[in-house]
Amino acid sequence: MKKTKIACCLFILAVFALLVTVSSSTAEEIGKLTGREFAQLVRGGVLYDNWFEELGVKIDKTHPSYPAVGQKKGAATWRCKECHGWDYKGKAGAYSTGSHYTGITGIRSYANQKPEQIIKVLKDNTHAFGSMILDKELEALAIFVAYGQVDVDLYINRDTRKGIGDPASGGRIYLSTCIKCHGEDGKEINFKDEKNPEYIGTVANKNPWESLHKIRWGHPGAQMISLFFLTLKDQLDVLSFCQTLPDK
Ligand code: HEC
Ligand code: HEC
Repeated sequence: MKKTKIACCLFILAVFALLVTVSSSTAEEIGKLTGREFAQLVRGGVLYDNWFEELGVKIDKTHPSYPAVGQKKGAATWRCKECHGWDYKGKAGAYSTGSHYTGITGIRSYANQKPEQIIKVLKDNTHAFGSMILDKELEALAIFVAYGQVDVDLYINRDTRKGIGDPASGGRIYLSTCIKCHGEDGKEINFKDEKNPEYIGTVANKNPWESLHKIRWGHPGAQMISLFFLTLKDQLDVLSFCQTLPDK
């Protein structure tokens, strides 16, 4: 009995130590980036969302590696997020079922890997991005995969979809920056249409993983700013504030 308790404690300690080293090694790597590399990291976040929108590339066919079980077609199937998810967990995350299901794995195991290794993946036969995306954009994507992704399950409850942030702190950021474009109640821009309007409050509650990604990196092809220069805590506070805004 006692032995199992000790073993259990040791195990928990080991897991904690691992968590701390993993996250602090990311922070350390980000701290070591030059100004240009830091800018590349942020650019990579936007490209992960929708690289062809950001780069103004026209695509009309479906990605050759997009599986037959998937329900999407055309340009959408070329977005990293379409195959790997807003939560970076692919088939182990929000896309484990539903209209975005592909059965493809996430990118989590490539966190903290060497960007050069990741560029190789992006140029492999599965992805075949080498001929479509310039080297400097591939580098941005690789730096994002290495140092930009986080384990969202530590910060967003899978079942309730609520973030762990403090809405009051987040409000100070939202109401002094985001407000300029999205308005005090988040309803200034309608992301969908008159019949089925979607506002900040709608998307932050429906898809908090996507909203956190946009908060951290910005929105492709739009003037929207990235909050990556702030701490992850600040970004999570903004998400939690957004979840308090009206959803219709
Ligand atoms: C059409 C679907 C599709 C798109 C779009 C796509 N990938 Fe992938 N990706 C895959 C497949 C398939 C694999 C191989 C993993 C597997 O066997 O499920 C993979 C693997 C990876 C891996 C290695 C993950 C691992 O654990 O092996 C990384 C990193 C990655 N992709 C990054 C990206 C990035 C960045 C983009 C956008 C520029 C992207 N992918 C776009 C389908 C896609
Ligand atoms: C300079 C204007 C601007 C600022 C500042 C701005 N945004 Fe945006 N945001 C946009 C535009 C434009 C879009 C894209 C609208 C569209 O696709 O219809 C967008 C899209 C979004 C989306 C994606 C909605 C979706 O599902 O497609 C979210 C979430 C979001 N913004 C949150 C924020 C938050 C939080 C802030 C503050 C940190 C912020 N924005 C600051 C202009 C801005």
